[in-house]
Amino acid sequence: PLISMRQLLDHAAEHDYGLPAFNVNNMEQVKAIMEAADEVNSPVIMQASAGARKYAGSHFLRHLIAAAIEDYPHIPVVMHQDHGTSPAICQRSIQLGFSSVMMDGSLMADGKTPASYEYNVDVTRRTVEFAHACGVSVEGELGCLGSLETGQAGEEDGVGAEGILDHSQMLTDPDEAFDFVEATGIDALAVAIGTSHGAYKFTRPPTGDILDIERINRIAERLPNTHIVLHGSSSVPQDWLEIINEFGGEIPETYGVPVEEIVKAIRYGVRKVNIDTDLRLAATGAIRRSLAEHKGNFDPRKYLTESIKAMKAVCIDRYEAFGSAGQA
Ligand code: G3H
Ligand code: 13P
Ligand code: ZN
Repeated sequence: PLISMRQLLDHAAEHDYGLPAFNVNNMEQVKAIMEAADEVNSPVIMQASAGARKYAGSHFLRHLIAAAIEDYPHIPVVMHQDHGTSPAICQRSIQLGFSSVMMDGSLMADGKTPASYEYNVDVTRRTVEFAHACGVSVEGELGCLGSLETGQAGEEDGVGAEGILDHSQMLTDPDEAFDFVEATGIDALAVAIGTSHGAYKFTRPPTGDILDIERINRIAERLPNTHIVLHGSSSVPQDWLEIINEFGGEIPETYGVPVEEIVKAIRYGVRKVNIDTDLRLAATGAIRRSLAEHKGNFDPRKYLTESIKAMKAVCIDRYEAFGSAGQA
């Protein structure tokens, strides 16, 4: 069934587990996520970014997720709009049937200029007002996502602040987080602790000093009745990078957030863990390998099936590591 983010994250908090929230753009991703969830009996969060809405369109995304719910009626599914840049965009997604929306007021409506605290409170509070009237959950964000190693927000063309950020902008302040939740009434809060979007998070394997996982603990202690979300949580699997490069790709050395660090973050209270890049890497590696190994093949179903298998394996890994396996 379709459920709200609030319902699912309340359950996760009660039973001490975290949920991967996978970005979806096409049928193969939806199938991989659902087949994996079915195999390990995990609830599901699927989310559509602005880029996904531009690529597939909101109607296709909504119907793909609806089809997944029809095929797997026993699996609870949250249909979430990722990184909304205005209350109007969130309102539109609610009208289409999304059960949860993110109002990302950490950035202005252009999606790249860091916004003031007052602006963030205003757009987020307004979104909560109409979303809650429809039974839809709201995720807000406080602090700008960015790598503490590079000072970069990450994604060049996606969602992320422009230019170099300073440390204070990239770390969510626990006291401000408390005020923000009180002022807005959000169901979930995305925090900045040194993760960033995309594949280029770190130039070497991250250690304690470039990820402020402990900060989650201090934020969680304060937060009134709200769940913590971690964006930019892909692990950038080194084995998939190798396969991509072995079969003609050219991706430079790069590192993500180790799964063990995420597991630690879940122990400190993170409930929703956003993952997009890992599924992209797995799909690309599997497709490159399949095309290289079957040079005469021109049936897309053949290599797309390989991409589903590869993404499904990543999903199963995350459901198991985060503890959502067995919770559907
Ligand atoms: O929000 C982060 C996602 O990775 C979005 O990427 O806009 O290219 O789909 P996208
Ligand atoms: P990754 O790029 O680390 O997968 O993060 C995705 C994300 O945060 C989507 O909102
Ligand atoms: Zn994000």
